[in-house]
Amino acid sequence: MKKAIIIGASSGIGRELAKIFASNGYEVGIVARRTGLLDELKAEMTVNTYTAAIDITNTDIVIRSLEYLIKEMSVVDIVVISAGIGYINPELDWSKDKETIDTNVSGFAAIAGTAMKYFAQKKSGHLVGISSIAGIRGSNECSAYNASKAFMSNYLEGLRKKSEKEKMDITITDIQPGLVDTAMAKGEGLFWVAPPKKAAKQIYKAILKKKKKAYITKRWAIIAWVLKIIPDFIYNKI
Ligand SMILES: NC(=O)c1ccc[n+]([C@@H]2O[C@H](COP(=O)([O-])OP(=O)(O)OC[C@H]3O[C@@H](n4cnc5c(N)ncnc54)[C@H](OP(=O)(O)O)[C@@H]3O)[C@@H](O)[C@H]2O)c1
Repeated sequence: MKKAIIIGASSGIGRELAKIFASNGYEVGIVARRTGLLDELKAEMTVNTYTAAIDITNTDIVIRSLEYLIKEMSVVDIVVISAGIGYINPELDWSKDKETIDTNVSGFAAIAGTAMKYFAQKKSGHLVGISSIAGIRGSNECSAYNASKAFMSNYLEGLRKKSEKEKMDITITDIQPGLVDTAMAKGEGLFWVAPPKKAAKQIYKAILKKKKKAYITKRWAIIAWVLKIIPDFIYNKI
């Protein structure tokens, strides 16, 4: 039986993804801080489900806890890192920026590195990171969030290069959602907001296809393309 760990499975995209993995016969390991929500999800599952209460900002503990969860599950094929936070923070409040960096950069890198080392020793595996379209360009209102997502995408690209150069059978997938209807989608004038279930279905398909990168939902590829080519003098006025 295949096994997957989803970090950030208590709500939103990660929660829907955990349900999809389970409905496709995977045993799942579900990780987050809100244990009540993890227990509720576990109660809904018809497959073996392992829960771990981990705050990923605590990087010393996160590495040991992830290693422990992997041991408990005995073998793991896929690790998905969906955990993340973000603030609209035009006033540059450091506590908000620090929390974003601690979670989306330090927490993410600690997990990604631990999963990569585990897959290298196991000689196969699939690491999936949920970054964002936001990582393509800087933001005047959420500078730390956009920068943290750029870090994620770049880090994942680095791990993919490592896997290919060292001829490891490890797939690295960078999922870049546009907008998904979760607690994370904040602000006004939101458009093309996808239901979390629809987003998770598309993410699951991209994982099965072992894609290097996927925009979620698919039409966000158009926005990604525009963001990449738009010159600064226009981008800075939007
Ligand atoms: N929604 C969007 O429009 C959108 C767009 C692009 C990218 N994304 C990305 O998609 C990912 C999932 O977000 P979502 O939209 O599903 O939002 P969400 O419902 O708020 O889910 C965030 C998940 O991350 C977990 N998490 C946050 N901080 C954590 C920490 N310190 N330790 C452990 N777990 C932590 C949360 O669990 P606990 O609070 O229980 O710990 C929760 O399970 C995020 O990385 C986000 O940046 C979202």
